Amino acid sequence: MNFEYTEEQLMAQQSARDFAQRELILDVIERDTKAEFPTQHVKKLAELGFLGMLVDPKYDGTGMDTISYVLAMEEISKVDSSVAVIMSVNNSLVCYGLEKYGTEEQKEKYLKPLALGEKIGAFLLSEPEAGSDATMQRTMAVDKGDYYLVNGTKNWITNGNSASTYIVIVQTDPEKGHKGINALIIDRHAEGISLGPHEDKMGMRSSDTHSVMFTDVKVPKEDRIGEDGFGFKFAMKTLEGGRLGIAAQALGLASGAYELALKYSQERKAFGKEIIHHQAIAFKLADMATEIEAARFLCLKAAWLKDNDKPYGTASAMAKLYCAEMAMKVTTEAVQIFGGYGYVKEYHVERLMRDAKLTQIYEGTSEIQKIVISRAIMDK
Ligand code: CAA
Repeated sequence: MNFEYTEEQLMAQQSARDFAQRELILDVIERDTKAEFPTQHVKKLAELGFLGMLVDPKYDGTGMDTISYVLAMEEISKVDSSVAVIMSVNNSLVCYGLEKYGTEEQKEKYLKPLALGEKIGAFLLSEPEAGSDATMQRTMAVDKGDYYLVNGTKNWITNGNSASTYIVIVQTDPEKGHKGINALIIDRHAEGISLGPHEDKMGMRSSDTHSVMFTDVKVPKEDRIGEDGFGFKFAMKTLEGGRLGIAAQALGLASGAYELALKYSQERKAFGKEIIHHQAIAFKLADMATEIEAARFLCLKAAWLKDNDKPYGTASAMAKLYCAEMAMKVTTEAVQIFGGYGYVKEYHVERLMRDAKLTQIYEGTSEIQKIVISRAIMDK
């Protein structure tokens, strides 16, 4: 077993760290307060090749491996999880699905601009009444011969406004249940699409989250991904990679909060010594460091499996479950170590704690990950 990163992986990590620590940090508090989309930073993500990290260079991606992706996600999430989720959705939920299951024409037309970061993508699965219970899709796509007519509403869509390309999960034949579900590529500016207001979220405030309404939207048949009825499996397969991206994000939130708390505890004095020399604080930091390391190995294992074309869905669910729960705990402890300072925006840890909460919810709640993992255990 080799625990060393390659040159390429270290370069991806360093480049993400430089970007986060030199650029994202400068206006992250302001963007969080104003819930402002990070337009300039997304352009920089594109320049750095981070929006199509996993895509083959023949489709204009950077062609890096999943371990590099985990390392870069961690560094960016240490500072700004809103930027990280834009990157995660584009890479894992949109580019991955198109590259793996799209036709050559779809890759030429849709994947290339997404991999270059000229366009941003969004993945539209959740609905007002289909969150965890994802087979209950009510957005209908009626087969009209050479096109589908789409009607319905999608909820909680990350990049809902900023995306140009949507991948939309729709029901085409309710009698067939999940076997009647399809995945369609839809232009965000197609006639008949309207958006709900920007959601005023507790955390990840500068990523844009909207509901999206479809009213008689015409989608050509050639924009369906895969065979008729493949949509649910497509969504599940795509989420396997998505969950690993969110696991890496949670890892970054935790390690960012830990690094800040460690530094603070070495500077802040109480009862005549730096607080790190009080066992109550030192033991907290010991637990935080250990759990972060365990979480990192779960992410790297899932990434390694993916890079080696081995099944990785269960490993990815385990990584997401553990990292999200760990991130909530570690960021909360970081706020505790900072005391009153931790509760104000200036010291960053309260934002990391608010952001961490979402990693327990989106791309499958912690409870959903336990369903995925327990079913895999039973199948064995
Ligand atoms: N790969 C391939 N096929 C899969 C699969 C996988 N990983 N998981 C399930 N399937 C298949 C099953 O084999 C089954 O097919 P067959 O009938 O042919 O065998 C079919 O899918 C249905 O599966 P289940 O019977 O297991 O379905 P279920 O109703 O019990 O639900 C679930 C399974 C795992 C709970 C699923 O509903 C789920 O993942 N729910 C959570 C949804 C979710 O993660 N939403 C996140 C929204 S996206 C988001 O947050 C993005 C963002 O903006 C950040």
